[in-house]
Amino acid sequence: MSSTRESLHGLWSSRWVFILAAAGSAVGLGNIWRFPYLTGENGGGAFVLIYLGFVLLIGIPLMVAETIIGRRGRRSPVNAILLIAEEESLSRHWSGLGLMGIIAGFLTLSFYSVVAGWSLAYVYFVLTSSFATANSISSEAIFTNLISSPLQLLFWHTLFMGSVIWIVSKGVSLGLERAVKILMPLLFVMLVLMTIYSLLVGDALGATKYLFATDFSSLTSDVILLAVGQAFFSLSLGMGALMIYGSYLPHDASIPRTCLIVGCVDTLVALLAGFLIFPIVFAYGLEAGQGPGLVFVTLTVAFADMPFGQVFGFTFFLLLTVAAWTSAISLLEPVVAWSVESKGWSRNSSSWLAGSVIWLIGILCLLSFNELKDFTPGGRNIFDWSEYISANVLLPLGGFLVAVFVGWRVSRMTIASEFGGNSSKLFSSWLFLLKYCAPIAVAIVFLNSSGLDLLFR
Ligand code: TRP
Repeated sequence: MSSTRESLHGLWSSRWVFILAAAGSAVGLGNIWRFPYLTGENGGGAFVLIYLGFVLLIGIPLMVAETIIGRRGRRSPVNAILLIAEEESLSRHWSGLGLMGIIAGFLTLSFYSVVAGWSLAYVYFVLTSSFATANSISSEAIFTNLISSPLQLLFWHTLFMGSVIWIVSKGVSLGLERAVKILMPLLFVMLVLMTIYSLLVGDALGATKYLFATDFSSLTSDVILLAVGQAFFSLSLGMGALMIYGSYLPHDASIPRTCLIVGCVDTLVALLAGFLIFPIVFAYGLEAGQGPGLVFVTLTVAFADMPFGQVFGFTFFLLLTVAAWTSAISLLEPVVAWSVESKGWSRNSSSWLAGSVIWLIGILCLLSFNELKDFTPGGRNIFDWSEYISANVLLPLGGFLVAVFVGWRVSRMTIASEFGGNSSKLFSSWLFLLKYCAPIAVAIVFLNSSGLDLLFR
């Protein structure tokens, strides 16, 4: 039997809402913006293969572990860990893991909101027909124009962040649940339709080769770190997002089954995004390795060319914004839940306070495309640093600690009761992956790559 402790912030109305909410958290810019652009920058197939391996062997087992902590503790990550540590007579210092997650959440959301702002800006661009006649050259100009204007970026970033804060301030069932129920399925349908179109008109063969031809010569330890980072980022691991969502999960829902569904949906969406974007990249001679602008530049060309492009373009960018929105909510929720519990602030003031700090860091991120373009300590601008430290340092580190905590410290009885029995093959395989595979793999990748440079720079 799982623990029957009650959540302080309410519960999802069913297992399906958890699946939708967790999928809403997982599916976002990470799948549709970040996965294709990293794949393009790192030469395709080999990166994809390693990414898939990490999702399966480390990502999904860690999702289960995070959800277990959440449901067991039924509190915000910091307090859930603290409570479990107390019950199991472990050191209170483990709650530092939750605090680290809060920092990771701040950093991640600050640059995330800037990119979500781009997506919002594109909704507007389609509506005003700014790219009705775009070709591969002018679509780059549209993107460059946008990111070189601090005021435009500020406007869209503010609009996005404001709406995230607003919905989180409304609370779990009123705000979050309503938002994910309708929008996630809609996004999925839209993505499938777009991908079919892209495969029909674009270079489907070239894209398939690119995504699956495994040329290991382009693999460096840094590429492997990027693949781990992307697995964590895409599955929303390592900062407590799934702990907080798990804490709202009903007692009788099976954690492994729900996590498996969420992990598969997330991976499917990333692959769909790859099959949506690369056929167009190759058919129009666009640059696969152009970096963060990839999705925006590529799709602009496609929408300009396709029948009903304006309708499709509008729907697509709107849904991308929504996907980003449901993810952003999960990045803000842990810190808000924590300050409600620990500081005794109201949900409303917690949301606005934490949100404003994130908004301010976001401004530094957006300035790094224009005013602060030349401020690149250590070879990266502020935006790149936030993205790098969050995805490649804090999230894997957080995941490593979760694996050690759940795999090695918490008693087998506790985890088995949340997992749903400890006698199955599934349980022992999961525990093996969690205890050995996850921490060792993350540690090796981490020590082998620029994680070390970063510490000793
Ligand atoms: N997974 C989301 C995406 O792919 C981003 C995200 C939401 C996230 N919550 C997170 C990333 C928590 C890391 C940690 O877009």
